[in-house]
Amino acid sequence: EEVTVQAPGSVSNLGSGFDVLGFALGAPYDVLTLRRTDTPGVRLINDSPFDLPGDPEKNVSGVVLLAALQRAGAAHGFELRVEKRIKPGSGIGSSAASAAGAAVAANELLGNIFSKEDLLDLAMEGEALASGSRHADNVAPCIYGGVTLVRSLDPVDIIALPPADLFVTIVHPQIEVSTAYARSILPKELPMRSAVRQWGNLGALVAGFYRNDPELIGRSMEDVVAEPYRKALIPGFEAVRTASRQAGALGGGISGSGPSLFQFSRTEATAEAIAAAMRDVYTGLGIEHRTYVTTID
Ligand code: HSE
Repeated sequence: EEVTVQAPGSVSNLGSGFDVLGFALGAPYDVLTLRRTDTPGVRLINDSPFDLPGDPEKNVSGVVLLAALQRAGAAHGFELRVEKRIKPGSGIGSSAASAAGAAVAANELLGNIFSKEDLLDLAMEGEALASGSRHADNVAPCIYGGVTLVRSLDPVDIIALPPADLFVTIVHPQIEVSTAYARSILPKELPMRSAVRQWGNLGALVAGFYRNDPELIGRSMEDVVAEPYRKALIPGFEAVRTASRQAGALGGGISGSGPSLFQFSRTEATAEAIAAAMRDVYTGLGIEHRTYVTTID
């Protein structure tokens, strides 16, 4: 018995929605093929260009599969073939795809015994291994699809928002930004005026998705909580923003904890023009990079 799933990349934070908002991407995605085995435990086969831990206890998908087997009280095991296309450390939800994809595939082979909340909980085991914190802003859109808001993790309360008609352009400069470090540089407390500004933007952003109002979404992307501290970790940040605006972008920011940057636009032609402008910035800086033009999935 075997199942193959496509696990999408995702953009989390979405400007003003630090740690609560995220959306799933049409591309890139990982391909995970899970097979039921008579031998207990988990065996991993890495069919990707990236190094991944082979020990299931140290592998993001591995810990999720082990937890799923244990929670199901299963006597059998799993063999997982991972074709990873989302580069680890890119800021576009590589670990979330490994975690959520494994949870969804395991559930299919276990007879759909888990609810979406259970799947989210399982996937967060993988996220915790990857980043040291149980956050759901990337795994939630992978599991629920579209745009999601994590209202609460205790108890789990995920709100699925209507996906707006937007194109997304992403640039991934090939530099390393560790999520743990990008979290450590954030202040632990916020001045009241920053909090007020952030929740004004976040409320408007959610309204923008419900109204399918690209301009409102674009101008509510402002992030005064994480971006002012994290932008220094990403060379070309301001130049990408300026060039994207000139190419017709509605707004955007850092994807997750970076280094990828994203921008929204109304049409595919504009999204392609933004991608070209982003490439020009990084070519000028001599930094290797990759761009994606996609939609909210
Ligand atoms: N919300 C998280 C952060 C996402 O910004 O640190 C990182 O994967």
